[in-house]
Amino acid sequence: MKSDDLGFSIWAVGGGKGGTGKSVVSTLVSLALARMGRKVVLLDADLGGANLHSLFGMKLPQVTLHDFVEKKIDGLEEAALDTGTPGLRLVSGANDVLSLANPKYAQKTRMLNAIKRLNADVVLLDLGAGMHYNTLDFALLADTPLLVLTPQMTSLENAYGFLKGMLFRKLERSFKEEHPLYPFLAPALKPAPGEPAEHLVDCFERARDAGAEGMAEWEAVMDSFRPGLVVNQAATSGDTLAAGVMANVACKYLGVQPDCLGAMPIDPGLRRQIDSLKPLSALGENVPAVAAASDIAKALLAREEREAREAREAHERAEKEALDNEQAA
Ligand SMILES: Nc1ncnc2c1ncn2[C@@H]1O[C@H](COP(=O)(O)OP(=O)(O)OP(=O)(O)O)[C@@H](O)[C@H]1O
Ligand SMILES: [Mg+2]
Repeated sequence: MKSDDLGFSIWAVGGGKGGTGKSVVSTLVSLALARMGRKVVLLDADLGGANLHSLFGMKLPQVTLHDFVEKKIDGLEEAALDTGTPGLRLVSGANDVLSLANPKYAQKTRMLNAIKRLNADVVLLDLGAGMHYNTLDFALLADTPLLVLTPQMTSLENAYGFLKGMLFRKLERSFKEEHPLYPFLAPALKPAPGEPAEHLVDCFERARDAGAEGMAEWEAVMDSFRPGLVVNQAATSGDTLAAGVMANVACKYLGVQPDCLGAMPIDPGLRRQIDSLKPLSALGENVPAVAAASDIAKALLAREEREAREAREAHERAEKEALDNEQAA
């Protein structure tokens, strides 16, 4: 639900590889946002292994996402429970894995509508590991997909794969086989058997050079895809550069420019807190991971403000142009 001046945003935290710190980052960023005065709902969208409640020192609550999916409750408000931190509520994940791990399209649509009706400024979705299309679809529900990666090469590869998977799914949904752009996209999205996949940027160039019909639509899809990157478990200042490396690769081969939103250090205090099953909300603001989460939250909000301003300015320019044309006619 839109609150008057703050807007409403859905951010999804994913990244492909398991154990990179998606749940830790989404929890600490949610706590930071709530402390900044935002109304936040954190939703455990790890459909195969929900455990976010444990980072709040909670047992699996009586009411969860599962009740919503099973239509025992009508909306998600009923499942959004207080966490003890003012402004932050948690929707716990399903405890019945089998019935939820593969939700149908209608269930996903119902869930998106319910998410939009939550009384919040920001809804954060903590996604599970892997690149199953359901996880990609959840990531694409978000205005901003946030990828958490660690400095290890395997994590970078997984995060890149996740980003590419999201973009390709978005393109596939926008341009079906009968669309005039599809033949240009196919060599990247679905190469012929035995053929190597082409880079998306090359497909884009070829379509533009050929003056293909619908290029503005393709550009709009690309422009609306604005992922953010967070490096977690950084041990050295060099480690924090991992996001920049990935952003360069994404730009070179996909034509996407992800934002590097910050890094969270390896923090033994955080680790101890988790291992002793104590809530992350009890960590002080001087704990390095908590301070880093606050910076990441600020970077996200700044980015959102910038995008809102740019959209407003573009709208004003279009209106002025229309008025000028009308007067000239
Ligand atoms: N910044 C950090 N400093 C120290 N330890 C960390 C940090 N981030 C994560 N960890 C450790 O890594 C573990 C896994 O983190 P987390 O559960 O957030 O990963 P995940 O990506 O959500 O995993 P999954 O893919 O299984 O959902 C934590 O329990 C914690 O022990
Ligand atoms: Mg997790």
